[in-house]
Amino acid sequence: MKSKIINCKEIIDIEQIKEAAKALREGKLVIFPTETVYGIGTNALLGSSVEKIFIAKQRAQDNPLIVHISSFEELINIVEEPNEIEKKLMNAFCPGPFTIILKAKSKISKVVTAGLNTVGVRMPSNNIARELIKRSGVPIAAPSANLSGRPSGTDIDDIIEELDGKVEYIIDGGKVPIGLESTVVRVLDNKVHILRPGKISPEDIEKLGLEVEIDKNILNEIEPEEKVLSPGMKYRHYAPKTKCVLVYSENNTNLVEKINELSKDKNVLVIGRSNNLKQYISKNRLDMGQSYEEIGHNIFSLLRKADTYNVDLIIIEGIGKDGIGLAIYNRLIRACEYNYIEC
Ligand code: TXA
Ligand code: MG
Repeated sequence: MKSKIINCKEIIDIEQIKEAAKALREGKLVIFPTETVYGIGTNALLGSSVEKIFIAKQRAQDNPLIVHISSFEELINIVEEPNEIEKKLMNAFCPGPFTIILKAKSKISKVVTAGLNTVGVRMPSNNIARELIKRSGVPIAAPSANLSGRPSGTDIDDIIEELDGKVEYIIDGGKVPIGLESTVVRVLDNKVHILRPGKISPEDIEKLGLEVEIDKNILNEIEPEEKVLSPGMKYRHYAPKTKCVLVYSENNTNLVEKINELSKDKNVLVIGRSNNLKQYISKNRLDMGQSYEEIGHNIFSLLRKADTYNVDLIIIEGIGKDGIGLAIYNRLIRACEYNYIEC
């Protein structure tokens, strides 16, 4: 059976949101927009419903889900009292593209936390998400709306193609503004560990006077038996089916030359910045945008589109690691399965 599509692109249809919120409370699955990416959610208090998300996404059982709330009052049911640093972070970045790992209360299903004693909490700023969560009256467990391993869902057509029929409702809120998943942090030994970079950058957190540590696994490949602070780091993610390479240089002329050298006599696709695109010799080119914001916004749908080209290699331009650049770099290096050239 097809999922019911709720159109909230221009205005929020409150009657239909109420219907979807009721479905969520009852443990049905609903896809909804957030400011980062679309989520596929259900009632976080119902283990058997949460299991349906794992099945729909074909997600590994040991990879926990984030719990979404619409106000700080809801925290009391989910987690133990946050410490001062955690409170400072939440006051600064919630609601917004930010997830904090806190000590879980037992009410939250073990299916959500994948058996860990912690839980990721996020308060989206997107109005549709907030209305939906508030009206459901329960915390909502929601991973990104995509099959495991695929780029996260940012475009409604991609989502319908991949997940139609697997959920009760799909709420269409148009293309999401940020396009990259939330920043995930955990406070350990009074330091803010970044477990997944996002729009809230290390610099943003440092501005609060807090010490930040970027987890080494954000930039480096993980050894098979290595212990990680966030299970999601271990899994193959974002990679198109075609082999990809990420090419980076601080010098733009070198970058263009290197990409053209790699393209010579080969059938390749180049995903590059707007200002460089004309300089590439390959006939297959995709425009990633110019600013970091544009690139973040476009990157997941471009990675999906890349697979529709019948090429031997996808060459992607790398960017700097400052600000939101770190989050983009992290998704791209994983899309390229750590196949990286710096010149
Ligand atoms: O922007 C977002 O965060 C989106 C929207 C829908 O809110 N959600 C999202 O969820 O990206 P998901 O499940 O695709 O990614 C959650 C990440 C995973 O890498 C998971 O391993 C990590 O957060 N995570 C969740 N709970 C955790 C925990 N208790 N400890 C460590 N990492 C955790
Ligand atoms: Mg995901």
